[in-house]
Amino acid sequence: MRFLKISVTAVALVFAATSLQAKEIVIKFSHVVAENTPKGKMANKFKELVEKRLPGKVKVQVFPNSQLYGDNKVLEAILLGDVQLAAPSLSKFGKYTKKLQVFDLPFLFKDIHAVGRFQGGPVGQKLLMSMESKGLTGLGYLHNGLKQLSASRALKVPSDANGLKFRIQSSDVLVAQFEAVKALPLKKPFSEVFTLLQTKAIDGQENTWSNIYSKKFFEVQDYVTESNHGLIDYLIVTSTEFWKGLPADIRGVVSKSMNEAVAHGNQVALDKATSDRKRIADSGRSKILQLSAGDRAKWVEAMKPVWKKFEGQIGKDIIDAAVKSNMMN
Ligand code: SIN
Repeated sequence: MRFLKISVTAVALVFAATSLQAKEIVIKFSHVVAENTPKGKMANKFKELVEKRLPGKVKVQVFPNSQLYGDNKVLEAILLGDVQLAAPSLSKFGKYTKKLQVFDLPFLFKDIHAVGRFQGGPVGQKLLMSMESKGLTGLGYLHNGLKQLSASRALKVPSDANGLKFRIQSSDVLVAQFEAVKALPLKKPFSEVFTLLQTKAIDGQENTWSNIYSKKFFEVQDYVTESNHGLIDYLIVTSTEFWKGLPADIRGVVSKSMNEAVAHGNQVALDKATSDRKRIADSGRSKILQLSAGDRAKWVEAMKPVWKKFEGQIGKDIIDAAVKSNMMN
């Protein structure tokens, strides 16, 4: 009798384990941008690769355009297990770590290659783990590109921004950056920017060529100043509990697919920095302004004191490492 009971229990356990193994894992990937962007393309490539390599085992559902969550809510959703992956802009992690604020410092990186060197180096790699104690794991970075300033007024020198309202992402560094030129920064979700510009509730915003084009901001802004003053890149993030809970073989394939999708997205980012800029220029809807070296130096001089203000929160070692990435090739 006892033998029978043990056997029945063993069979039940094996059955439970098998059905658990057989259950398809669903990865929901929520993001806020259009599909025709570096992040949109990366997410779709990731889905394609994972589902091809793990048929019936892992399903990836991608939700673009803030359909599921805006960036202000998605990190909570990850921690609650409602979403498994997101790639918010690096400016949106202030509630969880102050270290990633380094990426918002104005005029820090000379170009996207310097950004890549910093992210791929030891300090950048360590930053991926800067939210482990909060339950968030960074899986990697993804490029979008350098930011440009768009406005209803021509912005050539810092005093042109005086008194204008700019939408910013949820970053205190960006508040300080605009206050440094006596402008009025307003933290607003990405999904609201077009309407805020169209209704003239705000005067301007800062973003990459790809976002200005794909979300049509250029249609409701008279000028875009090619300032390259900051960065919008992404941290691909998941819940530490979810990530560690994946079977090792599945995690390996997901991770490899992620790396390949990121390489694809980075190439799209490089291409779009040129092609979407050209589309905006060709549209004739907003005028692209170039800065002379002298005028650019004025913006740098006005905004650079922000670095010192945030040095204590970010860490001087981190800022120094980022600066150093400009000096290498
Ligand atoms: C994004 O590129 O994901 C959004 C950036 C923004 O909020 O401006």
